[in-house]
Amino acid sequence: MASKIIKTVRTVAELRTIIADWRKTGHKIILVPTMGALHEGHLSLVRLAKEIGDRVVVSIFVNPAQFAPNEDFGSYPRTFDGDLDKLHEISTDLVFAPPRDEVYPPDFSTHITVEGLSDGLCGTSRPHFFGGVATVVAKLLNQCRPDVAIFGDKDYQQLLVIRRMARDLDLGVEIVGGPIVREKDGLAMSSRNAYLTANERERAPQLHLTIEEIAEGLADGKSIKPLLDEGHARLKEAGFDVDYLEVRNAENLAPIDGQVQESARVFAAAMLGKTRLIDNVAVPGSNR
Ligand code: PAF
Repeated sequence: MASKIIKTVRTVAELRTIIADWRKTGHKIILVPTMGALHEGHLSLVRLAKEIGDRVVVSIFVNPAQFAPNEDFGSYPRTFDGDLDKLHEISTDLVFAPPRDEVYPPDFSTHITVEGLSDGLCGTSRPHFFGGVATVVAKLLNQCRPDVAIFGDKDYQQLLVIRRMARDLDLGVEIVGGPIVREKDGLAMSSRNAYLTANERERAPQLHLTIEEIAEGLADGKSIKPLLDEGHARLKEAGFDVDYLEVRNAENLAPIDGQVQESARVFAAAMLGKTRLIDNVAVPGSNR
């Protein structure tokens, strides 16, 4: 079975021994942090990592600190053996899959807050989320000390939060974003898509279609508010409970009103049944 072949380590000490050997031979090391339940979106990040560097580490750790007590930590899909097979197929060099205590000893008491960028969008309805992400990613970056770490653009706010944290704390790692990978009908790939019922799965692409239409409207010079109002109505009609639908500056996430004259993205999060979906797209031609 392929999964028996891929090298997997569970402790920071083992990870560091291997990384130290790679460093001696001058390898450029890339980390792709994940929570497992790997899909084509994750695999595209690993492929990107292989283009950028010489040795690729994928971490698999379902981070309890980024889930609120009422969220899906318990039911989050865990598909470890299948993940290893997929990673083996694309020749990942090493998997780091620490047990909970290796990451959070019982008296763990340090938390990282990235102010500003963590507020708004997902930070409003999930106030615990970015602190939990920043803390675990800071630890993973310290444990692995890669040259580059790669995160998906789908969690765009997360990407900016992590990039800011790495800069502010002088972590000495370059944070790179990888493009969103979509199903044929436009739905952004996500481990949580597995929660969708067949009927919800049919309606789910509406989220992407809606933000894409808003982005195109903005690129045509239309005003933000009517486009967002229309988008809200359309999502409601498709059965979504919208958490947010907003246009923000792509570099600092500042809200944008009126018309888009800067680098901008359209961001959305919505519940479809019990599944929380998020997505974002760039406003075409807004990078000026
Ligand atoms: O995007 C994810 O899968 C997680 O938030 C991350 C970055 C691996 C931290 O747990």
